Amino acid sequence: MPEKQIIAVFGATGAQGGGLARAILADRSGPFAVRALTRNPSADKAQALARAGAEVALADADEPDTLERALAGAHGVYCVTNFWEHMSPERELAQASAMARATKRAGVEHVVWSTLEDTRKDVPLSDARLPTLKGKYKVPHFDAKGEADPVFAAEGAPTSYLLAAFYWDNFIFFGMQPRRNADGLLTLSLPLGGQKLPGIAAEDIGKCALGIFRRGPSAAGRRFGIAGDILSGEEMAAAFGRVLKEKVVFQDVPFDVYRGLGFPGADDMGNMFQYQQLGGKDFLRARDPVLSRELNPELQSFDAWMAANAGRIPRE
Ligand SMILES: NC(=O)c1ccc[n+]([C@@H]2O[C@H](COP(=O)([O-])OP(=O)(O)OC[C@H]3O[C@@H](n4cnc5c(N)ncnc54)[C@H](OP(=O)(O)O)[C@@H]3O)[C@@H](O)[C@H]2O)c1
Repeated sequence: MPEKQIIAVFGATGAQGGGLARAILADRSGPFAVRALTRNPSADKAQALARAGAEVALADADEPDTLERALAGAHGVYCVTNFWEHMSPERELAQASAMARATKRAGVEHVVWSTLEDTRKDVPLSDARLPTLKGKYKVPHFDAKGEADPVFAAEGAPTSYLLAAFYWDNFIFFGMQPRRNADGLLTLSLPLGGQKLPGIAAEDIGKCALGIFRRGPSAAGRRFGIAGDILSGEEMAAAFGRVLKEKVVFQDVPFDVYRGLGFPGADDMGNMFQYQQLGGKDFLRARDPVLSRELNPELQSFDAWMAANAGRIPRE
């Protein structure tokens, strides 16, 4: 049997990279082995991956010196940054740039970079429809990722660009599930401005990434926007209603109201939803369930995800 090619996975203890690590481990007869990268190899999640058959290695994107050894001998690298841990776009760009440079130094053949749009290309800072945030961003957690794309292109190993969609898991972990309004009616509240929302099961992102690695380095330079379904607020509310066995209505929250909700990152999230609305059909076209299903034949629809996760959605 030919020796397996190593895919080194940033974020292997998290949602995106974890999905990829599990997908590689489940693909026993496939061409790849997984090296799970983490800042803390002795932590429970890293140890669980080791028990499942992953190699575990130390890597800290804030410490570029740790990256060369972590990537040595790897065929591929999955790069993802976690904006929400620090909420600094400058730090996210520095982390992504360090990853990109390390992939080149290590002679990696194929990188998948989990990016998002630099929204300032579509909505310049002078455009008052979206408030400018943190001095020079419109959607900070998108913009820094998009700003890193040319760094991967110029200073990284051959790179494919993966654009993920809104995780449906936010309905479990991020408090976005339907809540009762003053009349006792279960209400799904999101600021969509009438736009549909591309969404995906977080676990499917890594499975799509595996599909990109399977296509090989010839997929470098290509952008893969992924989604499991693209649904209106009303369609999502109806799907909630079917599993909760109770009427759920959709409330389209004004963008300004959402930006003012006061939780950390509310302004960034509000701008994100408004950016998606301003993008109209172009934004929707950038995430393609058909392509996603080609990459990952197990891709879940929203109904399938809801059926599997109904018990995990917080209830009021
Ligand atoms: N939520 C959504 O709807 C959504 C949609 C699209 C894109 N995104 C993007 O997804 C990204 C987060 O990905 P996720 O959801 O997979 O994250 P996650 O589940 O919160 O896990 C974060 C991962 O990042 C790793 N990490 C953090 N800092 C690191 C560093 N300095 N060096 C090396 N590894 C580091 C952590 O590893 P250790 O702790 O083990 O070191 C962990 O595995 C965010 O940037 C967000 O913008 C989110």
